[in-house]
Amino acid sequence: MDMLLFQLEKNGDKPLYDQLYSGLKDAIISKKITVGEKLPSKRKLADFLNISQTTIEIAYAQLLAEGYIMSKSRVGYFVEEIDDLPYIQQEVTAIPSEQPKKKSYVIDFNPGSIDIDAFPFQTWRKYARDLFDNTSKELLLTGAPQGELALRTEIAHYLYQSRGVVCNPEQIVIGSGTEQLLPMILRLFKEDACFALENPGYPTVHRMFSQYKRKVFPIPVDDEGIVIHELEKTSADVVYITPSHQFPTGAVLSATRRAQALNWAAGSPSRYIIEDDYDSEFRYTGKPIPALQALDRNDKVIYMSTFTKSLMPSLRVAYFVLPPKLLSTYNDVFNYYSSTVPRFDQHIVANFMRDGHFSKHLNRMRKIYRKKHDQLTSILENYFPQIQMAGEQAGMHVLLTVEHTLSEKQLQQLANDAGIGIYPLSDYRLDRQTNQQAQFLLGFGGIPVQQIESTIEKLMTCWHIKKQPTSNSQ
Ligand SMILES: Cc1ncc(COP(=O)(O)O)c(C=O)c1O
Repeated sequence: MDMLLFQLEKNGDKPLYDQLYSGLKDAIISKKITVGEKLPSKRKLADFLNISQTTIEIAYAQLLAEGYIMSKSRVGYFVEEIDDLPYIQQEVTAIPSEQPKKKSYVIDFNPGSIDIDAFPFQTWRKYARDLFDNTSKELLLTGAPQGELALRTEIAHYLYQSRGVVCNPEQIVIGSGTEQLLPMILRLFKEDACFALENPGYPTVHRMFSQYKRKVFPIPVDDEGIVIHELEKTSADVVYITPSHQFPTGAVLSATRRAQALNWAAGSPSRYIIEDDYDSEFRYTGKPIPALQALDRNDKVIYMSTFTKSLMPSLRVAYFVLPPKLLSTYNDVFNYYSSTVPRFDQHIVANFMRDGHFSKHLNRMRKIYRKKHDQLTSILENYFPQIQMAGEQAGMHVLLTVEHTLSEKQLQQLANDAGIGIYPLSDYRLDRQTNQQAQFLLGFGGIPVQQIESTIEKLMTCWHIKKQPTSNSQ
């Protein structure tokens, strides 16, 4: 072996043993040193390179460990036969840079935002701390595929009390978000099953169905919710709906439409309804409306909900309730997989619910959101009729219809230029058709109550919309 092969940089950043190791490895891979060739003895090489024998020893030991060389007792080190050349420099594949961050605005009416100032961190921390303890060591092992029984039991209890949903914990499946659970539900149906979706609707669901290449019928929505007569005209087997607070229009599915939807589902054994009850905890007018599942007598509703609005979006805990008829299909397909939610997190939520903190938190948040809602709606009323509101009975966003000479896109641009994030309804359409009339989702969950008035004023100023004189001042 040519000992002049190595040029070591004594004052370089890389340690000498590492330079030697890399130099030798590259020489072996590129066959500059051939298989079977003997490496110089440690002493000889150390003398030649004027470095310590220990440096050589470390470099040789690393090459030995990685299988580039072998050692023959009392004879020396020899280059090994190596299979492929795993370290040969390859053309570097460009790694896509991280997704650009979503635009940030000074004021953001994002309908997905929640209030983050009233979370009971202290209580949550106590449950987390108590669980991360030797007495819970069993939680280090994999849990039940459907999710922890303790959490499913709490959810079943809560759903019965608050939504009239009757179910056993055995029917509940916990997963890390609606967006993770819906693909599971898809797999319960035949590949050629057809789906119907609300239009406009939840974009995540629209995207998901198209990624899974499922046949989809967009069904229009009016102020009574999804138009079931339009659904009846299709060959859909499964319809996904948000009856308590249609996303994004905010319409509540009327009693007549509820009955029509259930009758539609009862019309064929292959038909099912997926009921997404994502923000039903927050209702501001009238009595709470029970879930559609609670009215279903034919096991036709797959109920689903989430802790995204009621606790936090980052928790990533949601669940669905399967009608007993679908349980065996579920077990055949999914019982081999582990739950996607960490067991510790599931137990924190379960214990939090068990001890009444979830109800307490909901009551508190309801008050906060009601305050924000009342403030928002009363301020917006000042701009009537140029600004009209809909979907304000529940949830954390309202739908604004803006009478204006400018288009929806132009109004959005004006707001964005003023540092205000506002969300056009046409972005929620399956066909992305632009609305004739400018309509926007106005999320108020994340806006501090004391800032609601000024934020609306800023928005109206940038749209050149003036308050209407009240009848008293006329
Ligand atoms: C219609 C609808 N469903 C579900 C969710 C919650 O989804 P996830 O549980 O994946 O956070 C949202 C969140 O904004 C929603 O708008």
